[in-house]
Amino acid sequence: MDPVEHDQPHLPAPTVGPVGFALGVVVALVGLIINPLWISSIGGAITVIFAFVWAREATAEMRGRHVAVEPEMREAGVGDAPALPATAGEAAMPPPEPGERFPRSKFLEASTLGLGAVIGGVVTVPVAGFAVLPAFLGQKRHSVDLGPITDLTEGQWYVATFQLDPKEGETSRRTAFVRNNGVTTARGKQEPSFTIISNRCAHLGCPVQANGPTGSILGMKTISETTANGPVKLEPVVPAGFGCPCHGGQYDTEGNRTAGPPVRGLDRYDFEINNGRLVLLSEYSVAKVDGSGAQAKIHKYKFAGPGEHVTGVEQILYPLQPPHH
Ligand code: FES
Repeated sequence: MDPVEHDQPHLPAPTVGPVGFALGVVVALVGLIINPLWISSIGGAITVIFAFVWAREATAEMRGRHVAVEPEMREAGVGDAPALPATAGEAAMPPPEPGERFPRSKFLEASTLGLGAVIGGVVTVPVAGFAVLPAFLGQKRHSVDLGPITDLTEGQWYVATFQLDPKEGETSRRTAFVRNNGVTTARGKQEPSFTIISNRCAHLGCPVQANGPTGSILGMKTISETTANGPVKLEPVVPAGFGCPCHGGQYDTEGNRTAGPPVRGLDRYDFEINNGRLVLLSEYSVAKVDGSGAQAKIHKYKFAGPGEHVTGVEQILYPLQPPHH
């Protein structure tokens, strides 16, 4: 019989599975930039749901479910022989062998897809794990002993340099600006007060410097200590503020941004007094500081990266930070 013109292939009816799956992946990727916690989670959920829908649709025939197929349309040709009824002629496929559960083509299709998924998982899961997990694991808290508080003159600023983690050596060297504010009354009792400001610029992280003469110029003695964290140096300084050499960011003596591109104030360190010694604890971020010294009201936030807003709508635009102390 001559081939009939206008033959159309048998196509499965269009489904929402692949479209929803692709949409979920896009939402998850966009969420990684905008808000990993909420938008990526929603994208992940959409991806999983539509992956499930897609997998069920793709395997419906194997599971013996009826699959909607668009009807084959043919125009009756003038002078052609009448079409054979479906029940006439040879079978398109040989009947399954006795005991055969799935046609061979379906088995090959499923095993190829399964093998591809296994290979993809074996290749990508370890790489993704090694790339992402170290940032989240083993992030221990650091504390740094800066020596006896009696060594620090009240009202005097010091540039303190120390190692955050002696095991990491010089790569963990940090600088902070420390001022002894004297004794203050907090929660009904007298406590020593210190202002301890990180020198990491809140713009892009360059090392901020004190705008003023240091002890070596003023003839004042630098304090050197050897503590559990290795050598600690405390050099007196008289700052009018702090300035960043990279892009001109400027801060006042409480770390408030006064000029330039930084988006917030300088970060600070929590501290405790342990056996009369000043011990630095975790860092935290600061939007701004009202007042000064022991009376300062610090607008304190979770430790954020350089350039990250901690207030306003912009704060939702930054991805999750791995834990760091
Ligand atoms: S890094 Fe400090 S102003 Fe840019």
